[in-house]
Amino acid sequence: MREIIIQVAYFAAAILFILGLKRMSSPKTATSGVEWAGIGMLIAVLVTFFFPGMHNFLLIIVAIFLGTVAAWIAAKKVAMTAMPEMIAMYNGMGGGAAAAIAAIELSKFIIDPNIHHMSAATFSLAITGALIGSISFSGSILAFFKLRDWLKNIYFPMQQVINLSVLAIALVLGAILLFWHSTLILVLFFIASLAYGVLMTMSIGGADMPVVISLYNAFTGLAVACEGFVLNNISMIIAGTLVGSAGTLLTLLMAKAMNRSLSNVLFTRFGGSSGGTEVTGTTKSMEVEDAAMMLNYVTRVVFVPGYGMAVAQAQQKVWELASLLLEKGVDVKFAIHPVAGRMPGHMNVLLAEAGVPYDYILDMEDINNDFPTTDIVIVLGANDVVNPAARTDKASPIYGMPILNVDYAKQIFVIKRGKGKGYAGIENLLFFNDKCRMVYGDAKQVMTKMIQTLKEQE
Ligand code: TAP
Repeated sequence: MREIIIQVAYFAAAILFILGLKRMSSPKTATSGVEWAGIGMLIAVLVTFFFPGMHNFLLIIVAIFLGTVAAWIAAKKVAMTAMPEMIAMYNGMGGGAAAAIAAIELSKFIIDPNIHHMSAATFSLAITGALIGSISFSGSILAFFKLRDWLKNIYFPMQQVINLSVLAIALVLGAILLFWHSTLILVLFFIASLAYGVLMTMSIGGADMPVVISLYNAFTGLAVACEGFVLNNISMIIAGTLVGSAGTLLTLLMAKAMNRSLSNVLFTRFGGSSGGTEVTGTTKSMEVEDAAMMLNYVTRVVFVPGYGMAVAQAQQKVWELASLLLEKGVDVKFAIHPVAGRMPGHMNVLLAEAGVPYDYILDMEDINNDFPTTDIVIVLGANDVVNPAARTDKASPIYGMPILNVDYAKQIFVIKRGKGKGYAGIENLLFFNDKCRMVYGDAKQVMTKMIQTLKEQE
């Protein structure tokens, strides 16, 4: 009877994970989606206490308490711009936990196969989960260090060959373990798997990290699913598969939105380099006050937020300015490029945090045709996602990436601090367009000044 109740509870938890994930697909229901999935996780954790043979309750409770307090404080304090590194850390923990389960189950089997029997299929799944869980663990920790700027990219000769050789060694050791149950081989297998995670992440450019973190997220999910089979835990299998498939889809979507293949992200240096055809011509700048004045004579304005808005934490001020314009009867919209910022949905999250209603926020496909009838586009700390070189310059690293067609608008204001390049490290053709005016300054300060100027004129 107890067994049935446990399985039913795990199943209910799994259903809550699925429904929670479904709700996360819309900003309106996303918060409740997170809560539903959280309740599912709570049920899964509580019911595990009733699992036959469970012991060490005090240790478990202390571990849960410490983990909960640390996660609660970290989540409360984290800045929006630091979100990718927090996700990297949690991914790493998940992958590490899956690898630790594998390590314990495999060593129990190796030490006494008669008591802790494992079929060949289960053994293979434990090894697979151990491999990908370890890679995700060490790779995510390294990603965390790099995102914190505690570590730079590391390059050395024959890097890819050495990396692939270490992966091959881990795979061979894993295969040997299937036939030769040796603790020494198990230890070497874990060392090689952890080393591969570190090596794989070493050379990936800082701004490519979100794609890699999403990939590690998928790895962690798959590792958990594998270990769910080993422990015969339905909740782990379903939750792991969900995370694995969602992470894989997200990784592919991010790579596609940047017009890059996953192998290009993983194996090619990107960012920080110059690239593309040299741009000639001059840019024209404008004072903030003059730009603000021009907003008095428009009927339609589109804001294009980018990474710089996140850096400046200007989202509240942008919404304040947008609200002023709305009060004056101006048609205002926000245009969101799928890879604006540094993580999926980065801009949506920031704008939602500032209280911008969802119907003002449009995806690239939904707004791109509206630019020719837009009086002024305000590009706020965005750069690569509005660079027309993506359409025309075959030598550009962003060639082929779909962009927001802001250059088709009647007038464009670009707000940025100076001549800083975007993530791709290239010049932006838009800035040299006759219709474009550079309004230099920190995004938040410029927004504040524009609001002030508009209010003074009322
Ligand atoms: P970026 O191309 O990175 O450009 C950001 C711009 O913001 C810079 O030109 C910078 O110029 C300006 N800026 C920085 N701080 C500012 C501040 N305080 N106030 C005003 N401006 C400021 O941004 P984007 O257009 O959002 O493009 C995102 C890029 O990241 C894409 O290339 C994308 O492929 C890549 N990427 C995105 C993701 C995801 S999932 N979103 C993942 C990986 C890579 P100044 O220094 O002159 O101010």
